[in-house]
Amino acid sequence: MASDPLSATPSARASARVAEVLPGVRADLEALVRIPSVSAAAFDQAHVRASAEAVAALLRDAGLPDVELLTGARPDGSEGAPAVVGRRPAPDGAPTVLLYAHHDVQPPGAEEGWTTPAFEPAERDGRLYGRGTADDKAGVMVHVGALRALLPTWAPDDGVGLVVFVEGEEEVGSPSFADFLARHRDRLAADVIVVADSDNWSVDQPSLTTSLRGLVEARVTVRTLDHAVHSGMYGGPVPDALTALVRLLDRLRDAGGELAVPGLHAGPAADVAMTEADLRGDAGVLDGVELIGSGPLPERLWTRAALTVVGLDAPSIAQASNTLLPSAAAKLSLRVAPGQDPADAFAALRDHLLATAPFGARVEVELLEAGQAFAGDVTGPVYDAARTALSEAWGGVEVVHAGIGGSIPFIADLTAQFPDATVLVTGVEDPDTRAHGHDESLSLAVLERATRAEALLLTRLAGAPAQG
Ligand code: BES
Ligand code: MN
Ligand code: MN
Repeated sequence: MASDPLSATPSARASARVAEVLPGVRADLEALVRIPSVSAAAFDQAHVRASAEAVAALLRDAGLPDVELLTGARPDGSEGAPAVVGRRPAPDGAPTVLLYAHHDVQPPGAEEGWTTPAFEPAERDGRLYGRGTADDKAGVMVHVGALRALLPTWAPDDGVGLVVFVEGEEEVGSPSFADFLARHRDRLAADVIVVADSDNWSVDQPSLTTSLRGLVEARVTVRTLDHAVHSGMYGGPVPDALTALVRLLDRLRDAGGELAVPGLHAGPAADVAMTEADLRGDAGVLDGVELIGSGPLPERLWTRAALTVVGLDAPSIAQASNTLLPSAAAKLSLRVAPGQDPADAFAALRDHLLATAPFGARVEVELLEAGQAFAGDVTGPVYDAARTALSEAWGGVEVVHAGIGGSIPFIADLTAQFPDATVLVTGVEDPDTRAHGHDESLSLAVLERATRAEALLLTRLAGAPAQG
């Protein structure tokens, strides 16, 4: 590192500035985590507004000249969660870079599952624990940190144009984003889009996420009887709905556990080294439990469909009585391979469920939510700049191009509006993050590396010409 910052290169200066701003970034991340901004409908949405206001204050304080809280309407007509949009005009000839993150979080789940309370950030062994520490309040703070490092050093005609877009309803599928774009499209126009909401190969090796799966959420309801009846009087010949549902769900897979739904797409995945032992360890698979299906692991995780039963409407054991249930329902979460439209995938799932109904049971399948997949092109000068910046920030380690099995559906809506923009999917997560789960955590080493990488990237892009 240069001893005299004035004579150092722009990259060395940016890197040194990141070290200076980092303690404040960490402290402000903790303050954001203390706001329980759960966007799920059952939670108090006043906290989501409070977190939007906190993010707006951070962006103003970092020196962004133009910061607003904006909303769009959801399909049912209600107002969406507030998003924060902060802007800096592009100097002549410089590109505009959109920095995306989300300030809403998933519900914390049962309190007992947490070692320390979900909304009281706590450090243990170099990691910061709490809901949203990684997904995605650290994404927010990476952007704030990069701005704190760079904006004071940029004269008005230096640097890049900026749009910081921090949404408040990613975790519920961005339901107001279509209308948001209709209202505020011009404010989001950019040449480069950085989505800081994904994973890294490990704490010590950065990733660029090259694909994300799409998502279909569906409810399947099975009915066999007009009303509940005594299981002793009628059990035997008369089918109960929960047994029929279990049988129906079983028909979604073959004997080896592979999905047996015709019409779901699959594609090849990048050839990266991934061992079964690593996957078992990262996912916490219990000894003796077998993986399901077959084929290369990256393909099964990133570029094939995957189906999970995420909820059941049936009596709890505590509430159960000896009756034949007239109806039962399951919520299915289907990850869709990049390249397949979620509407097609839903149709395939629905047709299969209707065609395999056991015992002549009445089966109804409803679409609850659909989100598009993403597949990026990793060539060109912006990707070159990103690879260089990430590698430099991680101490010279090579960047892994990795798919991700999760979904960020808003990316497709945004790229439909700005088809010429280059999308970079970065992030602060690592295999131990446990996003959405108990004891979610962020590696503090990754927070520093990701902030430095973004400052280095913006510094590099500042030297690059705008796209047409
Ligand atoms: N940050 C995740 C997406 C993600 C998941 C990135 C796994 C890297 C690894 C995002 O916040 C998320 O959870 N998305 C939801 C989308 C849904 C609510 C529409 C998902 O994947 O379930
Ligand atoms: Mn996220
Ligand atoms: Mn998430």
